[in-house]
This record gives sequence, structure tokens and C-alpha cells, in this order.
Amino acid sequence: MAAMSRLLVCPPDYFKIEYEINPWMRRSNAVDSEQAIRQWHHLMQVLEQDVGAVLERMKPVPGLPDLVFTANAGIVVGRKAVPSRFRYAERRKEETYFEEWFRGQGYEVVTLDPGSFFEGAGDLLGFPDTWFGGYRQRSDIRVFPTLSDWFHREIIPLELVDNRFYHLDTCLCPLSGGELLYFPPAFDHYGQAALAERITPSRRLVVSEAEALRFACNAVCVGKHVVLPAGCPETESLLASCGYLPHPVPLDEFMKSGGSAKCLTLALD
Ligand code: ARG
Repeated sequence: MAAMSRLLVCPPDYFKIEYEINPWMRRSNAVDSEQAIRQWHHLMQVLEQDVGAVLERMKPVPGLPDLVFTANAGIVVGRKAVPSRFRYAERRKEETYFEEWFRGQGYEVVTLDPGSFFEGAGDLLGFPDTWFGGYRQRSDIRVFPTLSDWFHREIIPLELVDNRFYHLDTCLCPLSGGELLYFPPAFDHYGQAALAERITPSRRLVVSEAEALRFACNAVCVGKHVVLPAGCPETESLLASCGYLPHPVPLDEFMKSGGSAKCLTLALD
């Protein structure tokens, strides 16, 4: 039986590089909008047809170029949703649209203190009972004890030490079979040790720097399917050797903004 998965997505109608809030973004590196739309639709087709995911589409909003990265909408577990609180003013205007979407769908919306930063599933992901929380670049470490209480899950905080890997989902991807796909140098020694302590060596799938920089870890895993950016052949072989079915999708227009497959989706269950 294929695993069922519902994902929130937002079409890239207004996707552009209008500001620079991570080292990947350069305003001079303009997005080819038609190509971005093609790549996004191809990703949706793979998610729906090959992976069997159910997609919930949000309405894009002019002037909010990064709304397409729905991983940053917040975190959803069961019927409870915690909307993001963005670090940068440039993305803060997205908060009300994501929150409105959660409320419109009938989620119980629980909100963090306005002064704290939390960028949703971009910085919080994990296995069914243990989660990992990426902090320093975007989210604050102090939101994790609160989220841990609200969701009754252990959250292991991981400091992100390389600003090219500014969200946890750019360098770490928990897989459905308990393996962890990740790029260890994006974490400090303490974080690397914390991961090594919890994941047995045979379940640690280490991504090379070259493929980490092509966002190999920014993958969507649904059951045995793993949708990842094209251009990561070593990671594809690694996944296949563990029994996964890799689905490479070209997403380089979104890399101009520092995002790829996983950033473009939010898991709703
Ligand atoms: N340009 C966006 C930003 O810097 C990209 C967000 C990517 N999202 C993610 N979950 N990694 O905020």
C-alpha cells in the first residue's frame, strides 16, 4: 500500500528574486518565469502521478515572491497548525496568508510570541517521535521547547553553522524507513554527535558537498518515493541502494532563491 500524503503548495505566478536574504539569492540573477512555471508543474505532476500525493493549492499573492515556498508556512500535525514567524521583514507579510489558509481549512491555529522566529517545516522535521529543530540562521532555539510541549514530541535542536544551508531542510532529510539523508558539515560538532547518537551508522546517508550544494537533501519522501532536485546522481544511487525510488526533477529556477523540492511543499499529515 502506498503511503498517503497531503501537501500544501502554491503556484509560482509571482515568484521572483526581489530581495536577498540568503547567499543563493542575487537580484541580478533573474528568474525565467516561464521556465519556473514549467518546472513547478512538472514537480506537481511527479508528486501527484508518480508519488500519489494529494495537493492542496494556495492562491499566489502579487508582491510575495517567496510564498511559493510553503514549507515555511508553519508546521502542521493532526488538526493543529503553528504558523511561521519570519526572521526577515521581506517574508513577514506572508504570515497572514498562511495563517488565513490554516484557519480556512479548520485547523486549530496556535501562535508563537510575536518576538520569536520560527520558519515552519523548513526548520522542523523528523521521524514520527523524534524531531529536529534547525536554529540560528532563521528560527530561534527558544521556540523548540514550546513546540515540543504543544506537539508532545522530543525536539533535538541543531545549530546551522553554514549560511548556505540556512534552513534545516536544505541539509537534512529524514526518510520513511528511519534513514537520515544529510550533509554533516552543515552542523557543528555537537549537532553531528547528537545525530550520530540517534541514528545507527547504516542508516546515515551522507551526501557529498557537491550534491548538498545542489540541494540533494531538499527532498520529499513519501513511502518509498523520494522526489529530489535533478543533478544529484550519487544521492539517487544511495537512495536506490536502500530500496527507495528516486524521482529527479529539474528545479534550478527555484535554486536561484535558495529553494528546491522540499521547500515547495508542506506536509499536512
Ligand atoms: N528565498 C527563500 C528564503 O530565503 C527560500 C526559502 C526556502 N525554503 C526552505 N524551506 N528551505 O526564505
